[in-house]
Amino acid sequence: MSASLQHRFGDRHPDSLAQITERIRRDGLVLLDGLAARAAVLTTARSLMTLTHHPDSDPDGLTVIRDTGRHTDRPGFAGLGSGEVLPHTERSAAAMPPRLMLLACSRPADAGGVSTLVDGAAVLADLATEHPDAFTALSAPRSAFFGGANGCLSSIFSPVAPGRMQLRLRLDTLARFSPDAGAHLPVLRAAIDRHRQSFRLGTGQAFLLDNHRWLHARSAFTGSRRLYRALGEPLTSWVWPPGFPHPDTSRDQSHPDENGELTLRGLHDRTSAGPT
Ligand SMILES: [Fe+2]
Repeated sequence: MSASLQHRFGDRHPDSLAQITERIRRDGLVLLDGLAARAAVLTTARSLMTLTHHPDSDPDGLTVIRDTGRHTDRPGFAGLGSGEVLPHTERSAAAMPPRLMLLACSRPADAGGVSTLVDGAAVLADLATEHPDAFTALSAPRSAFFGGANGCLSSIFSPVAPGRMQLRLRLDTLARFSPDAGAHLPVLRAAIDRHRQSFRLGTGQAFLLDNHRWLHARSAFTGSRRLYRALGEPLTSWVWPPGFPHPDTSRDQSHPDENGELTLRGLHDRTSAGPT
């Protein structure tokens, strides 16, 4: 990631917090910096969300994402190995995945470990416009099952409020699909590839995303890559409507990008323009 993507959030000035919450509401994603230390990650996370504990998290609620050496080839634990992690929703098997995920880099990999983010709103708009049959199949109720014995029967795209959709996805061995939805997965994968944005987090760099909208992924790596992850629900002071606008119902709403897709470059332009 270039230095130009830095976000001046360091002192968590109220104006900065207001900027971050506004951008999450609008774009579903914001880049942060200055979060190399565990204490800084925890303070930032607590200023934004009520942390949700994870089976792999520590008592303070943060999960250390690194190659443990114990999770290689274990289904559902790709994030704790050093291999590739395919685009996914965090905790896709939960009845309701956490709304927010903060992922901060404490130590980059020696090689690889490139992060990829995919805006589900862009993928949905792409499919709804160019491949409506695929969008219909991937939105059909009970067309996807995520997880193991206690997994979740759902769909990849689900309506969650009038005019608003939620994205839920994983593409590993813990995902199963109806025949119709499965037949359209190649179209979905191609759309994901068209909208993926990849970058390498440097020390202290982080992203906060709306986990009901954005997918995240990671390439394989070597070295002692180490990140801190926080999952949770937005504090009640800044909750926003569920999901993201369906393109068919958002034509009259202004969007920050002319083509309807948020780019990391565009995000930076807006993030660095405001007060700190
Ligand atoms: Fe993940």
